[in-house]
Amino acid sequence: MCGIVGYIGHRNASELIIKGLKRLEYRGYDSAGIALFNESQIKVTKIKGKVSDLETKIIRKKNNSGSIGLGHTRWATHGVPSDINSHPHLSNSGDLVIIHNGIIENYAAIKEELVNRNFSFKSDTDTEVLVNLIEAVQKNGNYKLGKAVQIALNQVIGAYAIAVFDIKKPNEIVVARLGSPLAIGIGKNEFFIASDASPFIEYTNNAIYLEDEEMAIIRLHKDAIYRKIKNDSLFDPYLQELKLNIEQIEKGGYEHFMMKEIFEQPKAIEDTYRGRLNVDKGIIKMAGIEDHLDKFLNAQKITIVACGTSWHAALVAEYIFEDLARIPVEVEYASEFRYRNPIISDKDIVVAISQSGETADTLAAIKLAKGNGAFVFGICNVVGSSISRETDAGAYTHAGPEIGVASTKAFTTQITLLTLIALKLAKEKGTISNSNYKRHLVELETIPNKIEKVLRSDSVTREIAQIYKDASNFLYLGRGFNFPVALEGALKLKEISYIHAEGYPAAEMKHGPIALIDENMPIVVIATKFGHYEKIISNIQEIKSRKGKIICVVNEGDKIVKELADHIIEIPESLELLSPMLTTIPLQLLSYHIAVMLGKNVDQPRNLAKSVTVE
Ligand code: F6R
Repeated sequence: MCGIVGYIGHRNASELIIKGLKRLEYRGYDSAGIALFNESQIKVTKIKGKVSDLETKIIRKKNNSGSIGLGHTRWATHGVPSDINSHPHLSNSGDLVIIHNGIIENYAAIKEELVNRNFSFKSDTDTEVLVNLIEAVQKNGNYKLGKAVQIALNQVIGAYAIAVFDIKKPNEIVVARLGSPLAIGIGKNEFFIASDASPFIEYTNNAIYLEDEEMAIIRLHKDAIYRKIKNDSLFDPYLQELKLNIEQIEKGGYEHFMMKEIFEQPKAIEDTYRGRLNVDKGIIKMAGIEDHLDKFLNAQKITIVACGTSWHAALVAEYIFEDLARIPVEVEYASEFRYRNPIISDKDIVVAISQSGETADTLAAIKLAKGNGAFVFGICNVVGSSISRETDAGAYTHAGPEIGVASTKAFTTQITLLTLIALKLAKEKGTISNSNYKRHLVELETIPNKIEKVLRSDSVTREIAQIYKDASNFLYLGRGFNFPVALEGALKLKEISYIHAEGYPAAEMKHGPIALIDENMPIVVIATKFGHYEKIISNIQEIKSRKGKIICVVNEGDKIVKELADHIIEIPESLELLSPMLTTIPLQLLSYHIAVMLGKNVDQPRNLAKSVTVE
C-alpha cells in the first residue's frame, strides 16, 4: 500500500519520480505528491487524485526542477484521501520532508507528546507525526539526520519504508525499512529509492533490498552507509543484479495490464514449470522440496495460509494435495490464523502463498507458525520479497510482474507450482501409480496450449458480457476442484466491476442462495465433463426451473449442458485436477469485459491496492 520513489543524482528528479510513481500506482492511487529540492528550497506539490493529476499540477505550478526529490502515491490508512493528507509531509520547521509506506501504530501517543511540546499538525496522518518526532529528536540532541531517524524509529511501533530529506544536509537522503519493501538502485553518481525496482530499471540493474530494521544514508558522490536500526552496527548489503526488463512492466499494446496478464498466462505457466518439469524423464525437480523432503513426507498436516486470490489457489491445492499425496491440508485466511491460537507444532508444514510476497497478514501468519516451530514454505512471485525471505524454504512462480490489481496469472501459476509439489510428494510417498503420475505430467505440459485456445475464443465471452453487464448480482457455482474457481470468478467480478457476486459450491445453492434466483440473476456454472458432471446438470436444472440466466463453462462438444444453458463457453478437456487452470480463464475475461464496458478503471479498482502491507 503506497508507493515511494526517491532520487539523488544529476537527472531531472521530477520527470524520473513521476514516471516511477506511475509504475508504482498499482500500490495505491488515491493521492500523490512530490518534494523537490532546488535552489535551497524544498518545494512540495501534492494532490488528491492520480499521479497524472500531480503531473499536471507540477507543470502548471512550474515546480518541476531539481535533481533531488521524493515522491509518493498513496493508499489512505490514517486520514481520508485529500491534498493535505497526501505525502510528502514536512516537519514543523519545514526543514525535514518524509515519504512513508506503512503504518505507525503508536502515532496517537507520540502525537500527544509532541503537541505538549508545541508541535502542531496539519494532517490526520501518522506520517506527519513521524517526521516531527524525527525533528524533535534532532532538536533535543543536536543529532544529524541519520542518527535522529534511527532514534525516532526505535520509538515507533508499526511498519515503514521511509525516505527522509533534511534541507540542512542537502546531499543526502536517509531511508529505512521495517515490514514494507524498500529497494535502492545504485547508479553512477546517483541513487534511486523505490518500493520495487520498476521505477529505476532503465537506469541501473544494480539494486540493494533493505531487510527489516535496516537503514541507509545515501550520499551524493559518496558511498552509502548501511546501518542496523536497533544496534547501530554497520553492515555490507547484498548487491543484487536485477533480471527485470522494461518490456515486462509496460502494457505491450494491450489496453490494460489485466488483459496483458490474462493473455500472458500460457507463457507464465511455462515459466513456472520450466527447469522443474521433465515429462520425458518423468521427473519433477524442485530444490526447495528436495532439500526438505523428510519434513514434507513426515508432516502430520499441511496448513496453507494466504489472502484473496492466493487463498483461492490454496483451496484448489487442498483438493490436489489430498487427492494425490494423501496429506491432510487445512487452508486458512492468514488474517484469521494470525489472531487465533492455532494448533501448529514442529510436526507441521505451513505453506504461505503470496503473489506480492508483502501481504502483512500472511507475513504475520508466517512469523506465528515459525514461532510455534513449524517449517514454513513460501510460494511467491516477487523475487526477494519479504515473504520469500521470511520463510524457511520456498519456490517462486516466475510469472513475471503482475501490475493489474486484480490477480490473474498469479492464480494459475500458483496452481501450477502447487500441482508440481503435490505430484512430486505423491510420487515420493507412493500414493500415485506410475501411469497416473505420467498422465498428469503429460497433461500439465499441455495446459499452456489449451489456455491459448480458450483465449482465442474471447469474443464469445465478450458477447456474454455485453448481455449481462447491467446485472446487479451474479452467482458463480462450481463443484470439487472447481468450487474455488467459482469463488475466484466472483471475486474478479466484484473487485473490478463493483457488481455484487457470490461464489458457492453448486450443491450448497439449495441451502440458501437459491432464494436469490429469478429471471434477472445471471449464474455462471462451471460444468466441465470430468468430476460431478451429472450432479452439476441437476443443479443447472434447478436453476432453470427458477428462470435464472445460465452461463456455463463446458468442455468442447458438450451437448447436454448446451441444451439447458442460455450461453456456453467452451474450453478444451483436461484432467479434473488440472481443469481450474482452464476454467478460470473465461471467468477472468468475463469480469474484464464487463468492467471495461461499464467504464471502470480495470487496473486500479477503487479502494484497492496491489500489495496489502497493512492489516
Ligand atoms: C484479488 C487480489 C487480492 C490478492 C490478495 C493477496 O484479485 O489481487 O485478493 O490476491 O491481496 O495478495 P498476495 O497474493 O500478494 O499476498
